[in-house]
Amino acid sequence: MDEKKTFYITTPIYYPSATPHVGTAYPTVAADAMARYKRMRGYDAYFLTGTDEHGLKIQRRAQEAGLEPLAFVDPIVENFRKLWQVLLIDNDDFIRTTEDRHKKVAEALFQKIYDQGDIYKGEYNGWYCPPCETFFTERQLQEGHLCPDCGRPAQITREESYFFKMSKYAQAWLDFIEENPGFIQPQSRRNEMVNFVRQGLDDLCVSRTSFSWGIPVPFDSKHVIYVWFDALINYISALGFGFEDELYQKYWPADIHLVGKDIIRFHTVIWPIMLMAAGIPLPQKIIGHGWFLMGDDKMSKSKGNVVDPFILCQKYGADAVRYFLLREMGFGLDANYSEEALVNRINIDLANDYGNLLSRATAMINKFQGDIVLIPGESTDFDNGLRETAAAVVPETEHLLDNMELSAALTEIWRLVNKANKYIDDCAPWALNKAKETGKLASVLYNMAETVRLVTIMITPFMPGLPRRVWQQLGISDKPELHTWESLKWGLFPAGTKIERGEPLFPRIDPATLNESEEPAREKEEGPPSITIDDFAKMDLRIVKVLACEKVEKADKLLKFRLQMGDEERTVISGIAEHYQPDQLLGRNLVLIANLEPRKIRGTISHGMLLSAAADGRLEVLEVDSISSGAAVK
Ligand code: ME8
Ligand code: MG
Repeated sequence: MDEKKTFYITTPIYYPSATPHVGTAYPTVAADAMARYKRMRGYDAYFLTGTDEHGLKIQRRAQEAGLEPLAFVDPIVENFRKLWQVLLIDNDDFIRTTEDRHKKVAEALFQKIYDQGDIYKGEYNGWYCPPCETFFTERQLQEGHLCPDCGRPAQITREESYFFKMSKYAQAWLDFIEENPGFIQPQSRRNEMVNFVRQGLDDLCVSRTSFSWGIPVPFDSKHVIYVWFDALINYISALGFGFEDELYQKYWPADIHLVGKDIIRFHTVIWPIMLMAAGIPLPQKIIGHGWFLMGDDKMSKSKGNVVDPFILCQKYGADAVRYFLLREMGFGLDANYSEEALVNRINIDLANDYGNLLSRATAMINKFQGDIVLIPGESTDFDNGLRETAAAVVPETEHLLDNMELSAALTEIWRLVNKANKYIDDCAPWALNKAKETGKLASVLYNMAETVRLVTIMITPFMPGLPRRVWQQLGISDKPELHTWESLKWGLFPAGTKIERGEPLFPRIDPATLNESEEPAREKEEGPPSITIDDFAKMDLRIVKVLACEKVEKADKLLKFRLQMGDEERTVISGIAEHYQPDQLLGRNLVLIANLEPRKIRGTISHGMLLSAAADGRLEVLEVDSISSGAAVK
């Protein structure tokens, strides 16, 4: 019997200090899509997620809530589990670090590394950021002893601690990375980490005595194991490492640890060195993804800018939310979250491109062929183009997915969606019908149905709730062999199939209805809406000095300025030629809105706008006397 190839993928385990948000949903949705893809490719895929429940941060949150830590985290952990259900996450296991099966592995590993002399007792004297659960040297902190990661105050900490001899393994780590260049991805993260380790590694403080919420050090119970040392072990404790370890034997080493860029150092430096010390093989690959941002900031509970994924799923459906998350975030890059962007993706990619393709196919098969997909007749000149695109998109999508480039894979799949929509326009089946070209018409309608089938197979890992509805409309619900990755071959759609027209997959959402309930109605008569100080702060208003000014040829109203703004020079076109002679403004200090998007006016890029006031047909530019160029206007 053939053993299936295995694939083991993990997400970070989440702090149950607050309920999940759209940003924290990303890694789980991404890992789920990847695991589903691998299963479709015939792998025995194992997908682990869970919660990271120890540490000072959780202990404090629980205290604030007046609860024991476990009683505090239990309902939050439940919320994570519920969210994964709502988001159609198909994980194989969910590990909690408070479970015995985890604790015993963490204890055993700590003991082993201690016994071999790589953990020793010392005194920690330095800085600690509780929200990040991270130790820092004074040099690493920002001014005012602020945490370099989250910007909150770090705390001076002095206590007896156990240390892990990371320094001893720095060279082995560098050698490993050199021999395994694909270990850390993307490349930019790898370079960052290599530069970091080249400067030498400090030994890591791996126990604490000043609080109690953690796994006790097995041979010294006034210490608890440092929460990161504890948490990282989840990836093997969930597999029963060292105990009933069938799963460990089968799935370790992991194929992919997917982690956010904020925790890449823990996963690419500390974790591999822990494994080296314990003599355990290292994972294949660690992929660092970016963040979902709101404006310029990471979406995070501590910044109070979180969006509730439960509500989004309720409003738009899990498939659409998953599609948005996976399409929006390029490999290793940050992405922006806004509900407008989500609605745009739904309206354009899902409703207009993909959904419409199915609607057009089923509507025409209904109207022209009485719901039956007929045997293709003669081909049209456009058939080859469509078939060639399909033949190219499949292997390219596989290639991208094998590298976990989820967003790029979706873009590639949409190349086929768009090609198919263009194919319909080119072939004009309605005209073929009118001209009674029944053979050609049968070909076009067959090709449309077949393209929808191929696309739907490829997007199954991304939107697992969707296919069932599509197979039904295409009339192939009862043919699972036509839903498989293996069946991504042109021409398997069975002629003679009776389709079943249905509701649009993704009804268009009127963007005007967004946030209707949240935004107070504006009273239009009363002038412009009020803005907040933050809105005002977005404007970069600056003093600029006029270096040169000339008329723009064949434009009565325009003057072209060269402006000095601090060290920078700007070109700005301004519509004030009817009010000023070019030389009249030379050397004067005017006010510019400097961060206005550049615009091309009469062939010149104008970057910014000079402010002026107008009344009764007169106009004057705003200016200052002696404040020098570059100064900000507030
Ligand atoms: O870091 N966009 O847990 P965590 C994208 N317990 N990803 C985001 C995000 C955003 N706006 N906000 C958070 C921990 N994440 C540790 C992990 S693993 C042994 C221990 C991601 O709940 C973040 O990058 O703070 C991380 O990968 C994951 O959510 C869990 O974050
Ligand atoms: Mg975090």
